[in-house]
Amino acid sequence: MKVLVIHGPNLNMLGKREPEIYGTFSLDDINNKLKALATEIGLKLSAIQSNSESEIIDAIQKRDYNVLIINPAAYTHTSIAIRDAISAAGKPTIEVHISNIHKREEFRRKSYIAEVATGQISGLGADSYLLALRASKNILSR
Ligand code: DQA
Repeated sequence: MKVLVIHGPNLNMLGKREPEIYGTFSLDDINNKLKALATEIGLKLSAIQSNSESEIIDAIQKRDYNVLIINPAAYTHTSIAIRDAISAAGKPTIEVHISNIHKREEFRRKSYIAEVATGQISGLGADSYLLALRASKNILSR
């Protein structure tokens, strides 16, 4: 069973980018933790990061996964195209955010993705991803 993790725009800058909001860990740190947990719980995991909306949509359209974990970053609040790709793919999808988007600026409270996601985990730092991976295991065991 395969989990695809998509990290959206600017998440390649983790560690250097507003550490008071997003922490001091890097994207590699998150991916290494995810890979270790995936091995522990018996899932195959691949992770990609893209700053491009079209590359994110192409990855979703391949449907080469059983569960999608996605941090759409700023596209969360703008992208009907990513929402439609998730809806069309028809696979379990967990939306994750490092920061709590519901207690930040007003424009971050709207997620186009939440309406087509299985669930959303927001505000728990790197743990948002790790909890999403544990939830993926449970979804696939149902
Ligand atoms: C984010 C929250 C978004 O509002 C923001 O644009 C990001 C990161 C998060 O993980 O907290 O880039 O998705």
